[in-house]
Amino acid sequence: MRKGMFALAAAGLLASGSMAACGGDKGTETGSGGTTGSSVGKIGVILPDTASSQRWASDDPKFLKAAFDAAGVQADIQNAQGDKSQFQTIADGMISSGVKVLMIVNLDSGTGKAVLDKAASAGIATIDYDRLTLNGGAKYYVSFDNVAVGKLQGEGLVKCLTDMKATKPVVAELNGSPTDNNATLFKEGYDSVLKPKYDSGDYVKGPDQSVPDWDNAQAGTIFEQMLTENKNIKGVLAANDGLGNAAISVLKKNKLNGKVPVTGQDATVQGLQNVLAGDQCMTVYKAIKQEADAAADLAISLAKGEQKSVSQSVKDPESGKDVQSVLLTPKAIFKENVKDVVADGFVSKDQLCTGDFAKLCTDNGVS
Ligand code: BGC
Repeated sequence: MRKGMFALAAAGLLASGSMAACGGDKGTETGSGGTTGSSVGKIGVILPDTASSQRWASDDPKFLKAAFDAAGVQADIQNAQGDKSQFQTIADGMISSGVKVLMIVNLDSGTGKAVLDKAASAGIATIDYDRLTLNGGAKYYVSFDNVAVGKLQGEGLVKCLTDMKATKPVVAELNGSPTDNNATLFKEGYDSVLKPKYDSGDYVKGPDQSVPDWDNAQAGTIFEQMLTENKNIKGVLAANDGLGNAAISVLKKNKLNGKVPVTGQDATVQGLQNVLAGDQCMTVYKAIKQEADAAADLAISLAKGEQKSVSQSVKDPESGKDVQSVLLTPKAIFKENVKDVVADGFVSKDQLCTGDFAKLCTDNGVS
């Protein structure tokens, strides 16, 4: 079923792409508004920040721009830099500039909903990109199966602890932002793996804390505190590569890196390097190109006034309503298959295999 959806999304994109292929790069503005562009209408995209994950700074804007450019559709892609009032200001500007569709990655559901409501009352169709805005009422939600992401993290940590022959390990959990619905879903996923282990006594539940706004610096402070109070921590479930790296930095100071497995997410260059170095047990690769392509395809169809039907939906836990969704499949990455992320073109060998990592790349078949 999911495969079918990829195919549909890709086909839709190809169809639009064949109509006009006029590029044009005016900073954050994309598309030159050729025949297709001007008849379709502009699409606004607001990304959340550039600090909580490399993806928002480089990957999502790149792939979204490419998708809109290929279809010859004008898009205005901006980033709120973690600032909620800036987020609203950008949205106001896009709404008054006459965008036909607004796609957002919220900074929290409350401020996200305010923006979605404003857009809706101006007759603008909306899409939740990556993060569901609770009670937001967006027309579509495009993301990954985020509970599955969390499950891969939980299973990955179990694999690494088993490989290390850890007995009754104390596991610390460093969760994502409490205001990000995805963080709730990731936790649901990894706790579904870890809780039975805690309950059976195979693992010992250690400290379990959320990191406000996915702030990497705060994650370091929080994990330092955790380790001071629980010297016996033997595994760290970190919800993304940034939080994982914060924990690894603290472990390094205590000469514990490589001895305490740490998880991650996003297959960032830093995360993959930590995996190659043996300091991080695993990361989760989410093919952002597929996510951007699927979202752009739906945005373009909305801008044309079409109502594409998609085969998945999620229930908004606050409104109780079903939101039509595209949920893609994540992939677990360990040292052995870091090469898959390079082969998929997400990270280049040049970015990854710098300095000391060159040998680790060769040893692990990254070419
Ligand atoms: C995204 C992750 C990202 C995190 C921090 C989540 O909503 O799904 O990919 O690492 O936010 O930005």
